[in-house]
Amino acid sequence: MDKQQAQDQINALKEVLNQYGYEYYVLDSPSVPDSVYDEKLRELRDLEAEFPEFLTDDSPTQRIGGAPLDAFKKVQHNIPMMSLGNAFNEEDLRDFVRRASQGTDEPVSFVCELKIDGLAVSLTYENGKFVRGATRGDGTTGEDITSNLRTIRSIPLSIKLNETLEVRGEAYMPHQSFLSLNESRLANEEEPFANPRNAAAGSLRQLDPKIAAERNLDVFLYGVGEWNTSTITTHSERLEKLKELGFKTNSEWKKCSNIEEILEFIEYWTTERPNLSYEIDGIVIKVDNLEQQEALGFTAKSPRWAIAYKFPAEEAITTLVDIELSVGRTGVITPTAILEPVKIAGSTVGRASLHNEDLIREQDIRIGDTVVIKKAGDIIPKVVRAVVEKRTGEEKEFEMPNECPACGSEVVRLEGEVAIRCINPNCPAQLMEGLIHFSSRNAMNIDGLGEKVVIQLFQEKLIHTIADLYRLDREELLRLERMGEKSVDNLLRAIETSKENSLEKLLFGLGIRFIGAKAAKTLATEFETMEKLQRATFDELVAVDEIGEKMADSVVQYFSEEKVIDLLAELAALNLNMEYKGPKKAEQGSDSIFAGKTVVLTGKMETYTRNEAKELIESMGGSVTGSVSKKTDILVAGEDAGSKYDKAKKLEITIWDEQQLKEAIEG
Ligand code: IVH
Repeated sequence: MDKQQAQDQINALKEVLNQYGYEYYVLDSPSVPDSVYDEKLRELRDLEAEFPEFLTDDSPTQRIGGAPLDAFKKVQHNIPMMSLGNAFNEEDLRDFVRRASQGTDEPVSFVCELKIDGLAVSLTYENGKFVRGATRGDGTTGEDITSNLRTIRSIPLSIKLNETLEVRGEAYMPHQSFLSLNESRLANEEEPFANPRNAAAGSLRQLDPKIAAERNLDVFLYGVGEWNTSTITTHSERLEKLKELGFKTNSEWKKCSNIEEILEFIEYWTTERPNLSYEIDGIVIKVDNLEQQEALGFTAKSPRWAIAYKFPAEEAITTLVDIELSVGRTGVITPTAILEPVKIAGSTVGRASLHNEDLIREQDIRIGDTVVIKKAGDIIPKVVRAVVEKRTGEEKEFEMPNECPACGSEVVRLEGEVAIRCINPNCPAQLMEGLIHFSSRNAMNIDGLGEKVVIQLFQEKLIHTIADLYRLDREELLRLERMGEKSVDNLLRAIETSKENSLEKLLFGLGIRFIGAKAAKTLATEFETMEKLQRATFDELVAVDEIGEKMADSVVQYFSEEKVIDLLAELAALNLNMEYKGPKKAEQGSDSIFAGKTVVLTGKMETYTRNEAKELIESMGGSVTGSVSKKTDILVAGEDAGSKYDKAKKLEITIWDEQQLKEAIEG
């Protein structure tokens, strides 16, 4: 290929990849399967390697690049990034509408938008190229987080506009990404993020763009900073224009011409909010006409032409009855608040997380206190603070014990860790938690061997190690309380069936430190047998995509332990499968039922979490998107499926129930 041909080919590939990326990440409606995208990207990468003179910064191959930074540079915002005044009730909103309508004879229209709970960002394009991305900072000076923002796939690296344009919006972490990030943080023994906003902010403040790239962040653009040449006259036109330029805007905005319509919009989203795939914390109401906006102007901190209605915080007040300590699988001792049951955000809460000793002390939370609890990011209930004014003097300060509450051995606090840990390898609580983990759904998935049964078997001394599970005796089980013939037979059958599980399930079930379900799958696909994995060196392990040094270290260390070597030999002798049974790395997805299919998941499911279903479908070559469109092939509707179901029906898209999904996955 000569140079001219190479350049033409590179340009053509960039164009088509940008289009695919736009369809996938901005429109949420891909026109081709992931494999086609990957193939073209590979082609482009190869050509750019051969002809580096044609490699440009805005190439889709260049999203994650550059060495980690030492610090972020400062960025001056020529037009300050202001914040919004708040409205907490109808009266505040009526006041805002009245004030906005004063001083003009013309009718005033408003645009209502969702208030995305993330972090404000500014993106600058010069001559059509994304040149700078920044945080809001104090409104005048922000931080240059360009390399992190480049990793957000819905942010175009180039646009078809030859003027300087600064767009503003909110970077956020979708619920699904938040849940899987926290899941893997827990598996890695890292503190989970309290809510998606903190997770998004934490991710964009990473100095190494590779980390931000793994976090699956997204963005909605809702405004414009500098754009001198624009002739647009209303905010709603601006939103349309941004969309036309290829930016991801939120489509759930509405033009309202009076307070009643605004209240109706708010009411609608107050109920619909839990069905969104991302967090919102209110509604933003903006005067639509830009001339009217200008006439209204600004206060010192915020525009007079816009206001943020904040949803009432989902908090409740109750009594902290006790603090319970539990010992996890890895020995970490966590305190949990036992509460006088109270209703919050639609469910009754009797326990809440307290995190660790330092936080209990810092916040001076005592047993017997009246406490405020909150659903952080609407997910995990958490004790926010004690209501000190309500103290009677009877409250008791809490102290972490020096001994493990389960086995009595001395606890330690490892350097750099906030958690306190029991390091006795024979601690019964750890062994029991390990067994509960082993039989759990993502691991060996043994039906009928839930937490209660494991505890019962453990306490009756029928099981002590994993291998014991496979030696359970029918007669002995029948002697236990609440164990009839039918349940014993079912349990034994489920245990027997689990022997056939593919390697990754066993690997995850073993509970190797830092190896979550995803890493277990990666290792199983790569090494294929337990034997090969046992022999793998640190270097071979870190050479695998997605396996970091901490994980590799832990795997090597784990397989070198005598106890582990014995356990694995025992399990093999008990006929447990030790091989990977899924599609081989090279042929993944090619002839699966999901190959090239676009699937949307909605409603509640029993068998899988959203995340599990997504991972499984993707591992079988399908792609999972968030909203139903003409491009959707299958809608999987769990219980209480809402508007997505209606839309799929209207578009005559194939609709499956959970059972059909299960059958397709299990083949
Ligand atoms: S408009 C002049 N629209 O809420 C300020 N803000 O304090 C213009 N936010 O800092 C902001 N969703 O980070 C606007 N649809 C939306 C928004 C939104 C979220 C954030 C933004 C801003 C804060 C308001």
